[in-house]
Amino acid sequence: MERTSIGIILNGVTGRMGYRQHLVRSLLAIREQGGLPARDGSRIWPELTLVGRNEAKLAEIAARHGLTSYTTDLDAALADDSHQIYFDAQVTAQREKAIRAAIEAGKHIYTEKPLAEGLTGSLELARLAAAKGVKNGVVQDKLFLPGLRKLKRLVDSGFFGRILSVRGEFGYWVFEGDWQDAQRPSWNYRAEDGGGITVDMFPHWHYVLEQIFAPVTAVTAHIATHIPERVDETGQTYRATADDAAYGIFELAGGITAQINSSWAVRVYRDELVEFQVDGTHGSAVAGLRECRIQHRGATPMPVWNPDLPVTENFRAQWQTVPDNEDFDNGFKVQWEAFLRHVVDGEPFPWDFLAGVRGVQLAEAGLRSAREGRRVEIEEIRL
Ligand SMILES: NC(=O)c1ccc[n+]([C@@H]2O[C@H](COP(=O)([O-])OP(=O)(O)OC[C@H]3O[C@@H](n4cnc5c(N)ncnc54)[C@H](O)[C@@H]3O)[C@@H](O)[C@H]2O)c1
Repeated sequence: MERTSIGIILNGVTGRMGYRQHLVRSLLAIREQGGLPARDGSRIWPELTLVGRNEAKLAEIAARHGLTSYTTDLDAALADDSHQIYFDAQVTAQREKAIRAAIEAGKHIYTEKPLAEGLTGSLELARLAAAKGVKNGVVQDKLFLPGLRKLKRLVDSGFFGRILSVRGEFGYWVFEGDWQDAQRPSWNYRAEDGGGITVDMFPHWHYVLEQIFAPVTAVTAHIATHIPERVDETGQTYRATADDAAYGIFELAGGITAQINSSWAVRVYRDELVEFQVDGTHGSAVAGLRECRIQHRGATPMPVWNPDLPVTENFRAQWQTVPDNEDFDNGFKVQWEAFLRHVVDGEPFPWDFLAGVRGVQLAEAGLRSAREGRRVEIEEIRL
């Protein structure tokens, strides 16, 4: 079958996200399935060029996956007209500069979140991309998780009645790096390197809340650095200058209250690493990465508060599991496919830079709320 080749520069491919989720689980998986059907009957075929700082690592990854194109020279890759798309999964602090250069070179751009470290810089990127007329998108992978897809299905069906509140619990223990290696890169714990859980997670919470429930109108946050000292990849002790826990209250349009705890200093006593409980007048749901459980008003028991008696009910057993009813592919891959169709066939792609800007805006507002000890309203942003 005829191929429509599309040249993609992948920057940051030696990293956790760049390698596993974007290269292996998305783009190589699209190639393994024979490309992606285009509207003209051909197959969209990603041609990949790996970009990074370490040539040996790039060569090793390329060889492992039968790829031949890689370089440490981003400018040369951007100057090459056979590349139509620039993708960025570098550390956050390096992103803005690289995306600016890619826009200047006229590439369509897809990027990991957050779009940039600050609101001013990310809005500037959105404006530059619009002025240049390049297509653009930001990763919003959580929307494509099976658990959240089922939650969205419930919202769309009217299951909840009037939605009252959302309570999210995200996190797990990230080892300090001394007596056991840390399972996340050390830059995440240094503010000067673009780290911090607020900057990392509030962009996710923004699109989850906005796209499943309603736009965020205000935030009140408290942040903390619970573990002040950690040990990095080379065994050096460093000061954790970034926040490792963020406790946020988000007000949503229509009167919904959302409260989400994000922490890398919490031990998991939950079914999944992130869970959202949604309570509505007609029913409630608890959704994780994969599963979603519900309790309808007609099946709601009537607990009576009496601390003198042992618990007699198994509350968890009173919930019903929402069936899959469809196949769920890897969320990163699903969004890549949508972006490729957007570039090749002009299909709609709502997760654009402006959506990414709103995510960064919420992170910045959360940090300001914590710093100034007050509620911060979210102003509408336009290009
Ligand atoms: N969508 C998600 O769920 C999700 C999850 C984790 C991380 N992320 C985002 O993905 C990006 C990468 O995160 P990661 O966890 O893969 O990080 P990582 O440290 O594993 O990878 C970072 C990559 O950036 C490269 N890099 C370029 N310049 C660098 C520099 N000056 N210092 C260090 N590394 C440099 C590294 O070589 C590597 O390829 C971040 O922006 C992060 O916010 C998204």
